[in-house]
Amino acid sequence: MASRRGFLRAFLNDRESVGAIAPSSKGLARAITAPARACPGPRRWLEVGAGTGVFTQMLVDAMEDGDQLDVVELNAAFCTHLRERVLHDAPGGVTLHEGSIIDAELEAGYDAVVCGLPYNAFPTHLSRSILRRLVSLIRPGGTLSFFEYAAIRHLRSGIGARPVKRAMAWHARFVRRLERDMAGKRKLVMMNLPPAWAVHLRRPDAP
Ligand SMILES: C[S@@+](CC[C@H](N)C(=O)[O-])C[C@H]1O[C@@H](n2cnc3c(N)ncnc32)[C@H](O)[C@@H]1O
Repeated sequence: MASRRGFLRAFLNDRESVGAIAPSSKGLARAITAPARACPGPRRWLEVGAGTGVFTQMLVDAMEDGDQLDVVELNAAFCTHLRERVLHDAPGGVTLHEGSIIDAELEAGYDAVVCGLPYNAFPTHLSRSILRRLVSLIRPGGTLSFFEYAAIRHLRSGIGARPVKRAMAWHARFVRRLERDMAGKRKLVMMNLPPAWAVHLRRPDAP
């Protein structure tokens, strides 16, 4: 699968779960994986929605002895691509889970979760359960990083049908609450198609 063409084909076959017309840029990958890479080793990382593996490659390149990376990807064609092009010479400690993050058997306590899922394209009940599951998988003090395409939510709330507007408003409120409760930080990455916010949350330390 040539990355860009294969990505567009996957999007056309399954718009809702792929949710993007092109893979993320290296700039967005750097921004999204920054907290994971900065955390002291040995580290346990989880990546969800790896697609063609732009974030995966950056994590694999940063792996050191004792680090572990679980990668969860729903789309079978992307999984084949990941196995053949990204993970074939990855160090030990990398496991690819083919299937949905909802069903994946994972042990909680990750230092960092990196997520490439298209939340704004998901039905609200699905994005809510996935985000809650991801938060529950981080250790206290660990991070969850994901991206949102800049302006897409506003665009969909402005021109979408009433249920879409309601879903966008609900999603905005949910993410705002998470950012407030989990020391949220955002960075705008212009060099991406389309420009995107890298959003980072930190789970509060246990009292
Ligand atoms: C927007 S693409 C992002 C791909 C890549 N991280 C990037 O930024 O280029 C979203 C990816 O999430 C995957 N995905 C969607 N729903 C999923 C789920 N429930 N569990 C795991 N992966 C999922 C899709 O198959 C797709 O590869």
